[in-house]
Amino acid sequence: MSSIVIVGTQWGDEGKGKIVDFLAEQAEVVARFQGGNNAGHTVVSEGKVYKLHLLPSGVLYPQSTCIIGSDVVVNPGALLAEIDEMAANGRTVTNLRISDRAHVLMPYHIRLDGAEERLRSASKVGTTGRGIGPCYQDAAARSGIRMSTFVHPERMRQALKQQVEYHNLLLTKVFGEEPLDFDKVYAEMQGYADRLRPFVADTSYLVNQALDAGKKVLFEGAQAAMLDLTHGTYPYVTSSHPTAGGVCVGLGIGPKKINKVLGVIKAYTTRVGEGPFPTELKNAIGDQIRETAHEYGTTTGRPRRCGWLDAFGLKYAAMINGLDCFALTRLDILDKLPEIKICVGYNWQGRKIDSFPADLDILGQVEPVYETFPGWMEDISGCRRYEDLPLNCRRYVEAIARLTGTKASIVSVGPDRQQTLVLEESMF
Ligand code: GDP
Ligand code: IMO
Ligand code: MG
Repeated sequence: MSSIVIVGTQWGDEGKGKIVDFLAEQAEVVARFQGGNNAGHTVVSEGKVYKLHLLPSGVLYPQSTCIIGSDVVVNPGALLAEIDEMAANGRTVTNLRISDRAHVLMPYHIRLDGAEERLRSASKVGTTGRGIGPCYQDAAARSGIRMSTFVHPERMRQALKQQVEYHNLLLTKVFGEEPLDFDKVYAEMQGYADRLRPFVADTSYLVNQALDAGKKVLFEGAQAAMLDLTHGTYPYVTSSHPTAGGVCVGLGIGPKKINKVLGVIKAYTTRVGEGPFPTELKNAIGDQIRETAHEYGTTTGRPRRCGWLDAFGLKYAAMINGLDCFALTRLDILDKLPEIKICVGYNWQGRKIDSFPADLDILGQVEPVYETFPGWMEDISGCRRYEDLPLNCRRYVEAIARLTGTKASIVSVGPDRQQTLVLEESMF
């Protein structure tokens, strides 16, 4: 095995950053394949907390080449701010490559994200406000500005002029907003382009060469299955493909080059933004989970909605990703709950349903069917081997494996690298 895809299986924030960082110790390449700085991946290294939005979570290991792939949308100012923050912490980023095919996320995308959400009003998506949807819209409309153009001094000016003019028409005539000043945007972008130029490369070749040479490669997903543009809870989704299929298009590799698909499962469920959430706990238990776990968005600081684990949703996520195994995170958060529930199915209009509904009206009306598990009522954050976990805790992990039809490979009992229990002899 030389390549592993790491994907979120719920609505994001499962702890993908921690798992990627943990596995990155052995990896030679870590590549992001979709999303943008809507992602917030937390990595704790030597007691220091790093919040990564665009930089792949392998960046803390100097031996790994970090790649920002073709289907990532890149806000250049945000990326440079992350690079500078790393440098301020004594971690110089030199091993970064950005795809020349990646689209550049511009200030007008951010303005449009806000304007579109205001227009949607009550039916807003609850986006991160980072301009992600409008940037992917431009990519699909064939009017986006890609990295290869962005770092080309004359071509960038011309393309940006056209695009600012077009987006100013949208902003002023459709949304009644103020226009952007081209000279200001251009001056800012020119500065960013000069700094990012050395990092830009044809990353499809880099990734394929690494795979062909048998190097260990990690594909880092952002967001998660339920936020997938096609397979998630549309329209309350993001605008990219966070599922394993997204790796091939997002990095320019063939499907046979993926050796393993690992889904990250948080021991309970959270969601930021709008949209149905069948196992949501709008009660004291939900509040307890939020406060114990400090469930507030890494990117926007919004309180995350909390609920029980949804194994029916996870089974769907396992299917659409072709999961081989899972990493279970934040198990320690459940330490103080005397009883823990897992949703094992949905009832709708009094009848059990067989598949995860596409229709959000149905998803909003389903009644979760729960199995109840006794809690372990013990601090597990100090456990370092799977066998050290209390019996009830292992039963909970094994129930997830049974209900999702996949196997546990990693169990995480805290944010630190050491708080990671590996159940397989070799992950790669
Ligand atoms: P991501 O977006 O999937 O990378 O996840 P986030 O970083 O947004 O949110 C996960 C949070 O959980 C971060 O604050 C992590 O440091 C933290 N975390 C990860 N694994 C564990 C764990 O096993 N236990 C605890 N208590 N925290 C964890
Ligand atoms: P990570 O990688 C959780 C959600 C937003 C909103 C929807 C669309 O940290 O798991 P967007 O700005 O992408 O157009 O917003 O998707 N969302 C996330 N929720 N974790 C994320 O990333 C998210 N990225 C986007 O809250 O509901
Ligand atoms: Mg996150």
